[in-house]
Amino acid sequence: MAEVDALGEDAAAFIFEPLILGSGGMLMYDASAFDSLLAHCRAKGILLIADEVMTGFGRTGTNFAMDQLSTPPDMITLSKGLTGGTMAMGITTCTADIYEAFLSNDKTKTLFHGHSYTANPLTCAAALASLELFLDPACGENRQRIAGQHEAFAKTLEKQAFVKNVRQTGTILAFEVDTGEADSYVNNLAGFLHAFFREKRVMLRPSAIRSTSFRPIASPMRNWLPPIRPFWICWRNMEGKRLNINVINRKSDPHGSDFTI
Ligand SMILES: Cc1ncc(COP(=O)(O)O)c(C=O)c1O
Repeated sequence: MAEVDALGEDAAAFIFEPLILGSGGMLMYDASAFDSLLAHCRAKGILLIADEVMTGFGRTGTNFAMDQLSTPPDMITLSKGLTGGTMAMGITTCTADIYEAFLSNDKTKTLFHGHSYTANPLTCAAALASLELFLDPACGENRQRIAGQHEAFAKTLEKQAFVKNVRQTGTILAFEVDTGEADSYVNNLAGFLHAFFREKRVMLRPSAIRSTSFRPIASPMRNWLPPIRPFWICWRNMEGKRLNINVINRKSDPHGSDFTI
């Protein structure tokens, strides 16, 4: 808050990822302390812009991460879960106050910006279908089930000597593998795991291994590696420095096949 105060009149807006800073390494933070910061910014007239691209659509245990905070944002950005990952679409939402600031017969007040694919009809249809699924109570139960499984698995992970900083928010579970090197996106383990999984026809990001969250392989990858479509990655039975990993092909091989690194 002191840093915000130091900016004085120069601070126009605060952009944040609520509850989890994904790109910073799946850093999870306390909602109530963050709420105080948001309230402080609001009192100073600083616009609050919540980036819910990663946290939105049920990932954090509520429909949106901001649902767990009491200071509502002025703007929210959405993507990823908007279409269930099936088609590319992003939305920037805003309060009526902001909208009305641009609503004028005075053309100089126009927001002179438009996205190439704004309101693409196919993508909008995918978003509406995805929204219907998202709001289906059965889908909510699935999210709770995933969160419950993560909670149980986190307890197993915590006992492993080479795992540290296990943390969970809703359907997102993250931890660091203690390699003896400094935690970093360029840790050598990243390249090793990337190559290892690629050989098993599972695509991992080559850089973001500092923290790993477990989730179904995003559907856009289907175009990229068609055979991985039905895979789900589970990590289990972690002993010593060895990871026994089970890759389950839910369609043809419900029991999956173990392999070890
Ligand atoms: C928190 C966050 N914001 C924004 C983006 C960018 O979203 P898009 O690629 O849909 O523009 C990402 C992408 O991973 C993200 O995780």
